[in-house]
Formats: sequence, structure tokens, C-alpha cells
Amino acid sequence: MTPAEQSLKAAEICRLAPVVPVIVVEDLAHAAPLARALVAGGLPALEVTLRTPAALEAIRAMADVEGGVVGAGTLLTPADVKAAKAAGAKFGVSPGATDRLLDACAEYDLPLLPGAATASEIMALLEKGYTVQKFFPAEQAGGAPYLKSIGSPIPQVKFCPTGGISLKNARDYLGLSNILCVGGSWVVPKDALARGDWAEVTRLAAEARALR
Ligand code: 3PG
Repeated sequence: MTPAEQSLKAAEICRLAPVVPVIVVEDLAHAAPLARALVAGGLPALEVTLRTPAALEAIRAMADVEGGVVGAGTLLTPADVKAAKAAGAKFGVSPGATDRLLDACAEYDLPLLPGAATASEIMALLEKGYTVQKFFPAEQAGGAPYLKSIGSPIPQVKFCPTGGISLKNARDYLGLSNILCVGGSWVVPKDALARGDWAEVTRLAAEARALR
């Protein structure tokens, strides 16, 4: 899958809803009910970070949830890409980008939302054909004002900013012409997960859905 084809797919996924939940699954039993709760609230695109031993199995479990589009986040290596694809991930997300990682996404046909944080990183990815990128870590790297400034010289790149975004500041990003959606973990609070409070997750998802 070429970078241009990957970005087309990534754009399609980013346009499904204003927010992509960034999910850390510690307990595999949470995976399916959590995905159902988020989809019920109106957030179909889900990013499961490969940061816990349960992550790949969680992707497998969530991939069966109707209406969901489950991807793998925190992709760092070609092995991560291979494992994510095998688990059923429909897309990938990475905090940054390396040639080895990008080559693996082409090889395994995994649409990637590659991370970038500077003008040169954004340009390097654009040169390869990635017109849809993750801006990370969004708040720490300059936030919405930075993305607005980047949109003047490089309007052809669209972003999913992630990192430090919540209900409070999401609208600052979503109002910009170069933003497709935002990513964030605030819709999946640890305490709600621990309690198995799926109604609360659905409420937070619906609130996020209503941002746009
Ligand atoms: C991450 O990689 O953890 C994401 O950027 C989520 O960031 P957040 O927890 O600040 O939403």
C-alpha cells in the first residue's frame, strides 16, 4: 500500500468522528465492552496502544465489535506493524516515523497515521506521500496555534493531533482547516474502566461526538 493510498484510508477513518479514543487496555476482559460503549456513543474509530501485554489480544477482541474500526497505536517497529496487522488492526498510528516503520506499513498493507512534530518532519512525510499525519505531542509541541501556522505554508497536510487534548481544548483544534479529528484518552478514564462503568464511557463518547 503506497503512502498516498494509506493517507486516503487514514483520512476516511479520521472523518468518521471528531475524536479517536486513545486506549490503553490492561485487562483483556474490558476490550469488547469498552469498544461497544465507545461505538454506542458515536466514536467508531478506536486506537488501541501497543503498550500493554493485553493490547494485541484486545485488538482481536475489539475487531469483532460491530460498527467499530480498530487500529493499533504506539507502533514503533516493523514487528509491531506485522503483529498489529495479524491481530486485525485496520489502521496504525505512530508517535514519529522511521523508514523501517514506513516500509513495514507498505509491506503489510497497514494504513499508517505517522507522527510528526516539526515542519521538517511534516515535509519529510509529505515528500513520501503522507498527506494525513498525527501531530504529536500536540499540546507540548505548540498546540492549535502551531498547527494553524503550519497550515499556511503546508495546507496540503491534514492532521490528527494527539497529546494533552481534552474536552476543554478540542474545539481549538477542530476549528482549524487542516484538522480532520483529534485523538485523546480522556474519553476512556482509568477509573471508569476499573469500575466497568460502560455507561459513563458512552456518555463521554457522546459528548466528544457532539464536538462537531
Ligand atoms: C498518547 O500517546 O498517550 C496519546 O497522545 C494520548 O494522549 P493523552 O493521554 O494526552 O490524550
